[in-house]
Amino acid sequence: MTDRLKGKVAVVTGAAPRGEGVGNGMATALLFAREGARVVLVNRSAERAEKLRKQIVAEGGEAAVFAGDMAKADAAEAMAAFAVKTYGRLDILHNNVGIGAPGTPEAVTLADWNKVLEANLTTTMLCTKYCLPRMKEGGGGSIIMVSSIAGALGLIGSPGAVAYATAKAGLHGFTLSVAADYATQNIRANCIIVGSVHTPMVAHLGAEARERRKNMVPMKAEGTAWDIAHGAVYLASDESRWVTGVMLPIDGGLVALRQWPR
Ligand SMILES: NC(=O)c1ccc[n+]([C@@H]2O[C@H](COP(=O)([O-])OP(=O)(O)OC[C@H]3O[C@@H](n4cnc5c(N)ncnc54)[C@H](O)[C@@H]3O)[C@@H](O)[C@H]2O)c1
Repeated sequence: MTDRLKGKVAVVTGAAPRGEGVGNGMATALLFAREGARVVLVNRSAERAEKLRKQIVAEGGEAAVFAGDMAKADAAEAMAAFAVKTYGRLDILHNNVGIGAPGTPEAVTLADWNKVLEANLTTTMLCTKYCLPRMKEGGGGSIIMVSSIAGALGLIGSPGAVAYATAKAGLHGFTLSVAADYATQNIRANCIIVGSVHTPMVAHLGAEARERRKNMVPMKAEGTAWDIAHGAVYLASDESRWVTGVMLPIDGGLVALRQWPR
């Protein structure tokens, strides 16, 4: 631990992985705590978040669990209030919740479309909406969005995943708007473009699909949730105090191709 986040209070949404292994939210929450932040673990499943809280405490860190659906305004508002009530301030919001669903516009159901937009965009908007006033009270903050190569900068499409690509590209506009609106209040907004990392979210992929994903990447190596978490620590810390409105690909070079690899 080098205390890069000492004294800060961080919220990580979707912190607990949905299965075995280390998810992006989990790795980020663990690294935030290892760097000295007190971390609010937000998840729909209190049980899985509690398991992560125990792990953080066992490592000597500090964390609290808030269980709730961040697509609901009252839950998101209560979450921000809980963070301040528990730890006295709120400095970092890591908007990690996100899900995908397959389908072209012809194939995707309206129910899936709405579910994907809600999980990726509405949760991010609501958590940001209710954390912003708390950050202002504390004199500033850092908000991190979690996008995907599927929506990369609105410059490449994602075959067969129109809802996910649309939602993730939407996060880029959201990031820039928040960065522009809150810069004078010392609140920064940045976005990580997550590449093909191996996490519980993609545990359903077989060995062959996993190998294909790896070979799509210019660096020919598979990413992990820790690669994402290291980037999040930088964006959360004061080391990036002059960085806002940035889309940071952590993807082994995939966005550099400017096309969906075949
Ligand atoms: N794994 C990849 O290859 C990959 C690639 C690109 C982007 N991403 C992005 O990374 C993020 C997720 O990473 P992860 O590994 O932590 O995922 P994860 O699925 O392991 O964890 C996400 C957690 O969020 C919770 N959650 C879902 N909806 C919620 C809601 N409305 N309110 C509160 N909690 C909710 C889920 O229950 C789950 O426990 C997503 O935004 C995803 O789109 C992942």
